[in-house]
Amino acid sequence: MDVELVGHALSTLPEDDDHPYRTGPWQPQTSEWRADDLTVIGELPADLDGVYLRNTENPVHPAIAGKYHPFDGDGMVHVVGFRDGKAFYRNRFIRTDGFVAEQETKEPLWAGLAEPPSKSLRDGWGARGRLKDSSSTDVVVHAGVALSSFYQCGDIYRLDPLTLDTLGKSPWTPSQWGVSAHPKSDEHTGELLFFNYGKEAPYLHYGVVDADNHLGHYVDVPLPGPRLPHDMAYTENYAILNDCPLFWDPSLLEKGVHAARFHPEMPLRIGVIPRRGTTEQVRWFEAEATYVLHWVNAYEEGDEIVLDGFFQDDPEPQDRGDGSYYQRMFRFLALDRMQSRLHRWRLNLVTGAVREERLRDRVTEFGMINGSYGGRRNRYAYAATGVPSWFLFNGLVKHDLETGTDEHYAFGEGVYGSETAMAPRVGSTGEDDGYLVTLTTDMNENRSECLVFDARRVGDGPIARVRLPERISSGTHATWAAGSSIPGWRTADTMGHALRMES
Ligand SMILES: [Fe+2]
Repeated sequence: MDVELVGHALSTLPEDDDHPYRTGPWQPQTSEWRADDLTVIGELPADLDGVYLRNTENPVHPAIAGKYHPFDGDGMVHVVGFRDGKAFYRNRFIRTDGFVAEQETKEPLWAGLAEPPSKSLRDGWGARGRLKDSSSTDVVVHAGVALSSFYQCGDIYRLDPLTLDTLGKSPWTPSQWGVSAHPKSDEHTGELLFFNYGKEAPYLHYGVVDADNHLGHYVDVPLPGPRLPHDMAYTENYAILNDCPLFWDPSLLEKGVHAARFHPEMPLRIGVIPRRGTTEQVRWFEAEATYVLHWVNAYEEGDEIVLDGFFQDDPEPQDRGDGSYYQRMFRFLALDRMQSRLHRWRLNLVTGAVREERLRDRVTEFGMINGSYGGRRNRYAYAATGVPSWFLFNGLVKHDLETGTDEHYAFGEGVYGSETAMAPRVGSTGEDDGYLVTLTTDMNENRSECLVFDARRVGDGPIARVRLPERISSGTHATWAAGSSIPGWRTADTMGHALRMES
């Protein structure tokens, strides 16, 4: 393994930190590495060709008022690239305006999600305002560039998918509103579909960025009030937005308090708009009350749109456990508390009727599919299982939606995974003809690995384990991009230099 330390961020976190989401498997990193020819246990297939990218919060300062929320940390992206049976790794902080400013001041400048916005020392970003836009939630690849995003809305930061150098902000980002996490990169059209939300009418917008990275469409999607949508979906002809009955309590909001409350008496509303449709063309479908954090996929079938996602039985779980103040405070993030289960909504475009079906009893979330099936009928979904009471993943599941069967792999006690991406094999001939890729945080061995599974034999365990230079923080959202979608992939080295033509 050829390893080089290429950067180091200033951290002012206390040595004796006791926050459960800044210690143990969530201990943040300060180092930035470049590592080539990584040590592999097993064998990397030569037809695994492209990059696995993972974003996640990685805090370097204490919270300004002492109440760190697990989603406050600065965004750090990791990349593991696979080429010619070898792997390379890079990790970089996203050079957001907020990260750069707090590196200069050597102290926090913005209040976090569990703190009053009035504590912020500077104006900021986000749907609720006066937050730091840490671009830490999600990462996708569009037009050959990695894009990081923040779930409370902010700028879209452009990153080189090989070096992870921050290239700047997407010029099409709507000012004032920003963009929410989970824009969708449609491999078939080259478009990027996105939404944003905020506290002012119309409360929601929907947009389309063309394959040449220009804003091609942007419309109001009026809602009855401020909402907290987290994800969207799309089919070949439609984009799918949502109005979940979990939102900031309006009476508290008037006092500047942002407290999300679930309203079981209100329906889940699913908004369907033609992909280049107008505000007037949005159609709303009503379904059973829940909060949907993540959708899996959607597609058209006859008169219906089939929409798969995770239905939460308990969108506002009350804490019933013991443990430290912070353990109790953030237990609601655990999948077993939300009770998230794979669910199907069928929206009839002719009659307006909605049919719902619970697809699984097993609690999973963070579902991924073969990206080329986005908006098309998919058979498989790959999702995470959660550690009880913790926002940590302890295994992965391959859901077969045709047979109703699952394949499961557990990482083992003390080993935590990330969102698992599906990497189609070069020359892939079927939906699950490829590999599953994830990153682990192994507390037993004090190390991190990138695991590669044969997507057709998930239960057999990884076919290769790639060692990273150091143990990384546990994390969530990830994506896969084929080498063929990255400009210069065959000729660039991991420093971003076009070194040589490969024989
Ligand atoms: Fe998310």
